[in-house]
Amino acid sequence: MNKHDYRDGDSIDGIGLGTWKSDPGEVERAVEVALEAGYRHIDCAAIYRNEAEIGHALARVFAGGSIRREDVHITSKLWNNAHLPADVEPALKRTLADLRLDYLDLYLMHWPVAFRSGLEGFPQQESDFLSPEQAPISATWEAMLAARDQGLVRHVGVSNFSIHKLQQLAASGAELPEMNQVELHPYLQQDALLQWCREHDILVTAYSPLGSSDRPDTMKADDEPALLDNALIAEIAEKHAATPAQILIAWALARDTIVIPKSTHAGRLRQNLASADIVLDDADMQRIATLDQHYRYIGGNVFRTPGGMYGNIFED
Ligand code: A2P
Repeated sequence: MNKHDYRDGDSIDGIGLGTWKSDPGEVERAVEVALEAGYRHIDCAAIYRNEAEIGHALARVFAGGSIRREDVHITSKLWNNAHLPADVEPALKRTLADLRLDYLDLYLMHWPVAFRSGLEGFPQQESDFLSPEQAPISATWEAMLAARDQGLVRHVGVSNFSIHKLQQLAASGAELPEMNQVELHPYLQQDALLQWCREHDILVTAYSPLGSSDRPDTMKADDEPALLDNALIAEIAEKHAATPAQILIAWALARDTIVIPKSTHAGRLRQNLASADIVLDDADMQRIATLDQHYRYIGGNVFRTPGGMYGNIFED
Protein backbone atom coordinates (compact mmCIF):
# COMPACT_ATOMS: atom_id res chain seq x y z
CA MET A 1 0.00 0.00 0.00
CA ASN A 2 1.36 3.41 -0.82
CA LYS A 3 1.91 5.52 2.27
CA HIS A 4 2.25 9.22 2.97
CA ASP A 5 4.39 10.64 5.72
CA TYR A 6 3.41 13.28 8.22
CA ARG A 7 6.05 15.84 9.20
CA ASP A 8 7.10 13.76 12.20
CA GLY A 9 7.53 10.62 10.12
CA ASP A 10 4.28 8.88 11.12
CA SER A 11 2.50 7.54 8.08
CA ILE A 12 -1.00 7.16 6.68
CA ASP A 13 -2.13 4.69 4.01
CA GLY A 14 -3.02 6.16 0.63
CA ILE A 15 -6.40 4.41 0.54
CA GLY A 16 -8.78 4.74 3.47
CA LEU A 17 -12.36 3.66 3.98
CA GLY A 18 -14.85 6.54 3.74
CA THR A 19 -17.81 6.26 6.12
CA TRP A 20 -19.97 9.26 5.20
CA LYS A 21 -23.42 7.99 4.19
CA SER A 22 -22.67 4.54 5.55
CA ASP A 23 -25.86 3.55 7.24
CA PRO A 24 -25.41 2.87 10.98
CA GLY A 25 -26.91 -0.59 10.36
CA GLU A 26 -24.30 -1.41 7.69
CA VAL A 27 -21.19 0.39 8.79
CA GLU A 28 -20.14 -2.07 11.51
CA ARG A 29 -19.91 -4.91 9.07
CA ALA A 30 -18.25 -2.68 6.47
CA VAL A 31 -15.51 -1.64 8.89
CA GLU A 32 -14.89 -5.23 9.97
CA VAL A 33 -14.76 -6.48 6.39
CA ALA A 34 -12.50 -3.59 5.42
CA LEU A 35 -10.02 -4.30 8.20
CA GLU A 36 -10.04 -8.01 7.34
CA ALA A 37 -9.44 -7.11 3.70
CA GLY A 38 -6.37 -5.04 4.58
CA TYR A 39 -7.61 -1.48 5.06
CA ARG A 40 -5.61 0.25 7.79
CA HIS A 41 -7.13 3.71 7.47
CA ILE A 42 -10.72 4.59 8.40
CA ASP A 43 -12.16 8.07 7.86
CA CYS A 44 -14.93 9.11 10.25
CA ALA A 45 -16.70 12.26 11.45
CA ALA A 46 -19.04 13.14 14.27
CA ILE A 47 -21.64 14.50 11.83
CA TYR A 48 -21.86 11.17 9.98
CA ARG A 49 -23.74 9.99 13.06
CA ASN A 50 -22.35 6.48 12.91
CA GLU A 51 -19.25 6.71 15.10
CA ALA A 52 -20.79 4.61 17.90
CA GLU A 53 -21.41 1.75 15.44
CA ILE A 54 -17.89 2.11 14.06
CA GLY A 55 -16.66 2.00 17.66
CA HIS A 56 -18.35 -1.38 18.16
CA ALA A 57 -16.64 -2.76 15.10
CA LEU A 58 -13.23 -1.41 16.11
CA ALA A 59 -13.55 -2.78 19.64
CA ARG A 60 -14.51 -6.21 18.30
CA VAL A 61 -11.68 -6.31 15.79
CA PHE A 62 -9.04 -5.15 18.29
CA ALA A 63 -10.30 -7.65 20.86
CA GLY A 64 -9.77 -10.36 18.23
CA GLY A 65 -6.05 -9.75 18.62
CA SER A 66 -4.81 -10.03 15.04
CA ILE A 67 -5.11 -6.30 14.29
CA ARG A 68 -3.88 -3.87 16.93
CA ARG A 69 -5.15 -0.35 17.55
CA GLU A 70 -1.78 1.09 16.60
CA ASP A 71 -1.91 -0.66 13.22
CA VAL A 72 -4.92 1.40 12.11
CA HIS A 73 -5.03 5.10 11.26
CA ILE A 74 -8.33 6.59 12.44
CA THR A 75 -9.49 10.06 11.47
CA SER A 76 -12.43 12.04 12.80
CA LYS A 77 -13.68 15.59 12.40
CA LEU A 78 -14.80 18.42 14.64
CA TRP A 79 -18.33 19.47 13.73
CA ASN A 80 -19.24 23.10 13.08
CA ASN A 81 -21.27 23.40 16.28
CA ALA A 82 -18.18 23.00 18.48
CA HIS A 83 -15.80 25.64 17.12
CA LEU A 84 -15.60 27.74 20.26
CA PRO A 85 -12.32 26.84 21.96
CA ALA A 86 -14.08 25.60 25.12
CA ASP A 87 -16.22 23.23 23.00
CA VAL A 88 -13.38 21.52 21.14
CA GLU A 89 -12.12 19.12 23.79
CA PRO A 90 -15.62 17.96 24.88
CA ALA A 91 -16.54 17.29 21.23
CA LEU A 92 -13.32 15.37 20.70
CA LYS A 93 -13.87 13.34 23.88
CA ARG A 94 -17.38 12.47 22.72
CA THR A 95 -15.98 11.19 19.44
CA LEU A 96 -13.31 9.19 21.30
CA ALA A 97 -15.98 7.66 23.54
CA ASP A 98 -18.16 6.79 20.54
CA LEU A 99 -15.25 5.26 18.65
CA ARG A 100 -14.07 3.55 21.87
CA LEU A 101 -10.57 4.92 21.45
CA ASP A 102 -8.21 6.77 23.72
CA TYR A 103 -6.60 8.71 20.89
CA LEU A 104 -7.24 9.60 17.27
CA ASP A 105 -4.56 9.50 14.62
CA LEU A 106 -5.95 12.59 12.94
CA TYR A 107 -8.53 15.21 13.91
CA LEU A 108 -9.77 17.63 11.27
CA MET A 109 -11.73 20.86 11.50
CA HIS A 110 -14.60 19.71 9.26
CA TRP A 111 -15.48 23.10 7.71
CA PRO A 112 -14.19 26.66 8.06
CA VAL A 113 -17.67 27.62 9.25
CA ALA A 114 -19.01 27.93 12.80
CA PHE A 115 -22.54 27.23 13.99
CA ARG A 116 -24.03 28.31 17.27
CA SER A 117 -22.53 26.23 20.06
CA GLY A 118 -24.29 22.85 20.28
CA LEU A 119 -26.70 23.53 17.39
CA GLU A 120 -28.50 20.32 16.44
CA GLY A 121 -29.05 19.75 12.74
CA PHE A 122 -28.30 22.37 10.10
CA PRO A 123 -28.74 26.13 10.43
CA GLN A 124 -32.16 27.47 9.55
CA GLN A 125 -31.43 31.15 10.04
CA GLU A 126 -28.56 33.60 10.22
CA SER A 127 -28.55 33.49 14.03
CA ASP A 128 -27.71 29.77 13.91
CA PHE A 129 -24.23 30.76 12.74
CA LEU A 130 -21.39 32.34 14.63
CA SER A 131 -19.59 34.95 12.59
CA PRO A 132 -15.89 34.61 11.75
CA GLU A 133 -15.31 37.33 14.35
CA GLN A 134 -17.24 35.44 17.05
CA ALA A 135 -15.53 32.14 16.28
CA PRO A 136 -12.30 32.79 14.37
CA ILE A 137 -10.88 29.67 12.73
CA SER A 138 -7.50 30.55 14.24
CA ALA A 139 -8.95 30.18 17.77
CA THR A 140 -10.56 26.82 16.94
CA TRP A 141 -7.28 25.76 15.40
CA GLU A 142 -5.34 26.70 18.55
CA ALA A 143 -7.70 24.52 20.59
CA MET A 144 -7.08 21.61 18.20
CA LEU A 145 -3.33 22.05 18.54
CA ALA A 146 -3.80 22.01 22.33
CA ALA A 147 -5.68 18.70 22.04
CA ARG A 148 -2.70 17.31 20.15
CA ASP A 149 -0.32 18.58 22.84
CA GLN A 150 -2.46 16.74 25.37
CA GLY A 151 -2.06 13.49 23.46
CA LEU A 152 -5.74 13.08 22.56
CA VAL A 153 -4.83 13.13 18.87
CA ARG A 154 -1.59 12.44 17.04
CA HIS A 155 -2.10 14.81 14.11
CA VAL A 156 -4.35 17.74 13.33
CA GLY A 157 -5.61 19.18 10.10
CA VAL A 158 -8.51 20.79 8.33
CA SER A 159 -11.10 19.99 5.70
CA ASN A 160 -12.72 22.09 2.99
CA PHE A 161 -10.09 24.82 3.36
CA SER A 162 -9.32 27.03 0.36
CA ILE A 163 -5.85 28.48 -0.24
CA HIS A 164 -7.16 31.75 1.17
CA LYS A 165 -8.32 30.10 4.42
CA LEU A 166 -4.99 28.32 4.78
CA GLN A 167 -3.23 31.65 4.24
CA GLN A 168 -5.36 33.15 7.00
CA LEU A 169 -4.18 30.45 9.38
CA ALA A 170 -0.60 30.99 8.26
CA ALA A 171 -0.98 34.73 8.90
CA SER A 172 -2.08 34.03 12.48
CA GLY A 173 1.39 32.62 13.03
CA ALA A 174 0.12 29.17 13.98
CA GLU A 175 1.61 25.91 12.81
CA LEU A 176 -0.01 24.93 9.51
CA PRO A 177 -2.40 21.96 9.35
CA GLU A 178 -0.81 18.60 8.59
CA MET A 179 -3.71 17.64 6.31
CA ASN A 180 -6.37 19.28 4.16
CA GLN A 181 -9.23 16.99 3.17
CA VAL A 182 -11.15 18.33 0.17
CA GLU A 183 -13.39 17.20 -2.65
CA LEU A 184 -11.18 15.95 -5.48
CA HIS A 185 -11.93 13.89 -8.58
CA PRO A 186 -11.49 14.33 -12.35
CA TYR A 187 -14.36 16.83 -12.54
CA LEU A 188 -12.81 18.93 -9.72
CA GLN A 189 -9.04 18.63 -9.95
CA GLN A 190 -8.03 21.69 -7.86
CA ASP A 191 -4.43 21.82 -9.14
CA ALA A 192 -3.64 25.19 -7.52
CA LEU A 193 -4.80 24.04 -4.08
CA LEU A 194 -2.83 20.82 -4.44
CA GLN A 195 0.27 22.74 -5.40
CA TRP A 196 -0.09 25.17 -2.49
CA CYS A 197 -0.48 22.31 -0.03
CA ARG A 198 2.51 20.50 -1.47
CA GLU A 199 4.67 23.62 -1.14
CA HIS A 200 3.62 23.99 2.50
CA ASP A 201 4.07 20.36 3.44
CA ILE A 202 0.34 19.76 3.92
CA LEU A 203 -0.94 16.30 2.96
CA VAL A 204 -4.14 16.21 0.90
CA THR A 205 -6.99 13.72 1.13
CA ALA A 206 -9.47 13.43 -1.73
CA TYR A 207 -13.10 12.99 -0.66
CA SER A 208 -16.02 12.00 -2.87
CA PRO A 209 -13.52 10.41 -5.27
CA LEU A 210 -16.27 8.37 -6.97
CA GLY A 211 -18.74 11.22 -7.32
CA SER A 212 -20.67 10.51 -4.14
CA SER A 213 -23.79 9.37 -5.96
CA ASP A 214 -25.43 8.02 -2.79
CA ARG A 215 -25.92 11.50 -1.36
CA PRO A 216 -29.50 12.38 -0.43
CA ASP A 217 -31.41 13.85 -3.37
CA THR A 218 -31.75 17.13 -1.50
CA MET A 219 -27.99 17.57 -1.86
CA LYS A 220 -27.95 16.88 -5.59
CA ALA A 221 -28.34 19.08 -8.63
CA ASP A 222 -30.85 17.69 -11.17
CA ASP A 223 -28.28 17.73 -13.95
CA GLU A 224 -25.31 16.44 -11.99
CA PRO A 225 -22.78 14.50 -14.09
CA ALA A 226 -22.30 10.84 -13.15
CA LEU A 227 -18.57 10.42 -12.70
CA LEU A 228 -18.65 6.61 -12.62
CA ASP A 229 -20.39 6.63 -16.03
CA ASN A 230 -17.85 8.87 -17.76
CA ALA A 231 -16.95 7.41 -21.19
CA LEU A 232 -13.23 8.26 -21.02
CA ILE A 233 -12.88 6.73 -17.56
CA ALA A 234 -14.68 3.62 -18.88
CA GLU A 235 -12.27 3.44 -21.82
CA ILE A 236 -9.20 3.70 -19.59
CA ALA A 237 -10.74 1.10 -17.27
CA GLU A 238 -11.07 -1.30 -20.16
CA LYS A 239 -7.46 -0.73 -21.17
CA HIS A 240 -6.30 -1.71 -17.64
CA ALA A 241 -8.85 -4.52 -17.22
CA ALA A 242 -10.13 -2.54 -14.23
CA THR A 243 -13.39 -0.92 -13.19
CA PRO A 244 -14.12 2.83 -13.50
CA ALA A 245 -14.04 3.14 -9.70
CA GLN A 246 -10.56 1.63 -9.67
CA ILE A 247 -9.34 4.10 -12.29
CA LEU A 248 -10.68 7.02 -10.24
CA ILE A 249 -8.88 5.74 -7.14
CA ALA A 250 -5.66 4.99 -9.05
CA TRP A 251 -5.82 8.53 -10.49
CA ALA A 252 -6.02 10.01 -6.99
CA LEU A 253 -3.01 7.93 -5.90
CA ALA A 254 -1.06 8.91 -9.01
CA ARG A 255 -1.52 12.58 -8.06
CA ASP A 256 0.02 11.83 -4.69
CA THR A 257 -3.19 12.38 -2.79
CA ILE A 258 -4.72 10.13 -0.15
CA VAL A 259 -8.17 8.88 -1.14
CA ILE A 260 -11.17 7.65 0.87
CA PRO A 261 -13.75 5.86 -1.31
CA LYS A 262 -16.86 4.88 0.61
CA SER A 263 -18.50 1.50 0.26
CA THR A 264 -20.51 -0.78 2.48
CA HIS A 265 -20.24 -3.76 0.13
CA ALA A 266 -17.54 -6.36 0.61
CA GLY A 267 -16.78 -6.87 -3.08
CA ARG A 268 -16.41 -3.16 -3.76
CA LEU A 269 -14.38 -2.58 -0.62
CA ARG A 270 -11.87 -5.15 -1.84
CA GLN A 271 -11.99 -3.89 -5.41
CA ASN A 272 -11.29 -0.34 -4.24
CA LEU A 273 -8.30 -1.39 -2.16
CA ALA A 274 -6.89 -3.33 -5.11
CA SER A 275 -6.76 -0.06 -7.10
CA ALA A 276 -3.35 0.50 -5.52
CA ASP A 277 -1.95 -2.03 -8.02
CA ILE A 278 -3.11 -0.08 -11.09
CA VAL A 279 -0.50 2.16 -12.65
CA LEU A 280 -1.84 4.84 -14.96
CA ASP A 281 0.58 6.02 -17.64
CA ASP A 282 1.28 9.59 -18.75
CA ALA A 283 -1.18 9.33 -21.61
CA ASP A 284 -3.96 8.22 -19.22
CA MET A 285 -3.15 11.10 -16.87
CA GLN A 286 -3.12 13.64 -19.68
CA ARG A 287 -6.48 12.44 -20.95
CA ILE A 288 -8.05 12.50 -17.49
CA ALA A 289 -6.67 16.03 -16.96
CA THR A 290 -8.97 17.20 -19.78
CA LEU A 291 -12.06 16.19 -17.77
CA ASP A 292 -11.72 19.01 -15.24
CA GLN A 293 -14.87 21.11 -15.18
CA HIS A 294 -14.53 22.63 -11.69
CA TYR A 295 -17.65 20.75 -10.74
CA ARG A 296 -18.45 20.41 -7.03
CA TYR A 297 -20.75 17.65 -5.87
CA ILE A 298 -20.57 19.09 -2.36
CA GLY A 299 -21.47 22.70 -3.01
CA GLY A 300 -21.52 24.02 0.51
CA ASN A 301 -24.84 25.81 -0.22
CA VAL A 302 -25.96 24.96 3.25
CA PHE A 303 -23.43 27.47 4.56
CA ARG A 304 -24.66 30.35 2.44
CA THR A 305 -26.44 32.76 4.74
CA PRO A 306 -28.79 35.52 3.60
CA GLY A 307 -26.37 38.07 5.00
CA GLY A 308 -23.41 36.43 3.26
CA MET A 309 -21.54 35.97 6.53
CA TYR A 310 -19.24 33.30 5.09
CA GLY A 311 -19.21 34.44 1.45
CA ASN A 312 -18.13 31.71 -0.97
CA ILE A 313 -16.30 29.39 1.41
CA PHE A 314 -14.43 27.62 -1.36
CA GLU A 315 -12.88 30.82 -2.67
CA ASP A 316 -12.86 33.37 0.13
P1 A2P B 1 -21.83 1.23 -2.08
O1 A2P B 1 -21.55 1.80 -0.73
O2 A2P B 1 -23.20 0.68 -2.21
O3 A2P B 1 -20.75 0.27 -2.54
P2 A2P B 1 -17.88 8.40 -2.79
O4 A2P B 1 -16.77 7.59 -2.19
O5 A2P B 1 -17.45 9.32 -3.89
O6 A2P B 1 -18.71 9.11 -1.75
O7 A2P B 1 -18.87 7.38 -3.52
C1 A2P B 1 -19.61 6.43 -2.81
C2 A2P B 1 -20.60 5.76 -3.76
O8 A2P B 1 -19.86 4.96 -4.69
C3 A2P B 1 -21.53 4.84 -3.03
O9 A2P B 1 -22.78 4.88 -3.68
C4 A2P B 1 -20.87 3.46 -3.21
O10 A2P B 1 -21.83 2.44 -3.16
C5 A2P B 1 -20.30 3.59 -4.59
N1 A2P B 1 -19.14 2.72 -4.81
C6 A2P B 1 -18.14 2.47 -3.97
N2 A2P B 1 -17.23 1.65 -4.52
C7 A2P B 1 -17.68 1.36 -5.76
C8 A2P B 1 -17.21 0.56 -6.82
N3 A2P B 1 -16.06 -0.10 -6.73
N4 A2P B 1 -17.95 0.51 -7.96
C9 A2P B 1 -19.12 1.20 -8.06
N5 A2P B 1 -19.62 1.97 -7.10
C10 A2P B 1 -18.91 2.07 -5.95
